Amino acid sequence: MPVTSPSIAIVGATGAVGREFLDILEQRRFPHGELRLLASARSAGSTLPYRGERHSVHELTDRSFEGIDIALFSAGGSISRQFGPVAVRAGAVVVDNSSAFRMDPAVPLVIPEVNPEAMEPFLSGARRPGIIANPNCSTVILLMAATPLHRALGIERMVVSTYQAVSGAGAAAMQELEDLTRDVLAGRPAHARIFSEPCAFNVFSHNSAVNAATGQNVEEEKMVLETRKIWNEPEAGGVRISATCIRVPTMRAHAESVNITLTRLATEANVRRILAAAPGVRVVDDREKNDFPTPLKAAGGDDTLVGRIRPDLSQDVCGEGDDRTYRGFNLFVCADQLRKGAALNAVQIAEMLVH
Ligand SMILES: NC(=O)c1ccc[n+]([C@@H]2O[C@H](COP(=O)([O-])OP(=O)(O)OC[C@H]3O[C@@H](n4cnc5c(N)ncnc54)[C@H](OP(=O)(O)O)[C@@H]3O)[C@@H](O)[C@H]2O)c1
Repeated sequence: MPVTSPSIAIVGATGAVGREFLDILEQRRFPHGELRLLASARSAGSTLPYRGERHSVHELTDRSFEGIDIALFSAGGSISRQFGPVAVRAGAVVVDNSSAFRMDPAVPLVIPEVNPEAMEPFLSGARRPGIIANPNCSTVILLMAATPLHRALGIERMVVSTYQAVSGAGAAAMQELEDLTRDVLAGRPAHARIFSEPCAFNVFSHNSAVNAATGQNVEEEKMVLETRKIWNEPEAGGVRISATCIRVPTMRAHAESVNITLTRLATEANVRRILAAAPGVRVVDDREKNDFPTPLKAAGGDDTLVGRIRPDLSQDVCGEGDDRTYRGFNLFVCADQLRKGAALNAVQIAEMLVH
């Protein structure tokens, strides 16, 4: 692969994540040669803006990857399963946003700030061409905040509740929130099409399938399994995670309430210091002004916002005054899942391949 100016394909370029790819490649002045925009036959012939020009969208076919060095996939799991191997056979490195390959032991699951070492086979050239997976968006956001604490202090348990934006379900779901909000405000009946519940003025359990035996939905399972893989934790005896995933009527940027149990007790000042120094994390935490992370503050940005940093007084407390240490902490985390949870993370991975 040419290291300086790879040719790039975006699979799913017309989607919510696809459009974000274009924004981020442009904003970060990603150095590339040809840019090939791919989507379904429905979008063939349409154009998308990029670097001041309109670029044509082409139908994804078996021949779409000839001459492509890096293929950024965000068109759903079945498209990734069908065309990811096609792209690899054509010589490309695939960075995949779907869940198709995440738990494949041969595929690295990468958040550049968290486990860049997983990229090593690709950086050394040993595994090129090949597939690299982007984690689930809720997992990325959780681990951006939790990993620095885990590395410094050890985390033995996390209880996470998500407040997930509708854009996590794609462009059509964003349209549904707009449409149903108008319907409700106009006094018309609001009929859900994408979700099984009306998303306007409502909060409901995540729309992924629920395991009848465990009661966990697929989003919750992903957070547990992907965290173990990224942190390299054993299935038994490793970090314990309890997740509840909920959809809320925000347009973009997921929020997560995170309760942590540490292996080693820590002062609040130490926890704050660790988070303030973490790459890609911005502490937004002003108790006096009640200024904390919100989806609106995170939307359109690259940072993972962390606030409401406070000891969990229901867990062990030791010592007095400034030296008081705590076993448990609570955090409230927000990040734009279309960016850090998807397109930005994938572009950061692509940047590692180029630099
Ligand atoms: N949304 C998020 O926050 C998020 C976060 C992390 C990961 N992801 C993953 O990213 C992927 C895309 O999500 P999204 O939210 O961007 O969905 P989306 O807005 O619904 O976009 C889907 C894209 O896939 C394309 N597509 C659909 N069927 C296709 C086909 N048969 N052949 C070629 N292209 C096809 C669509 O093209 P047309 O416009 O032509 O239909 C569109 O460009 C999914 O795997 C999702 O799980 C999403």
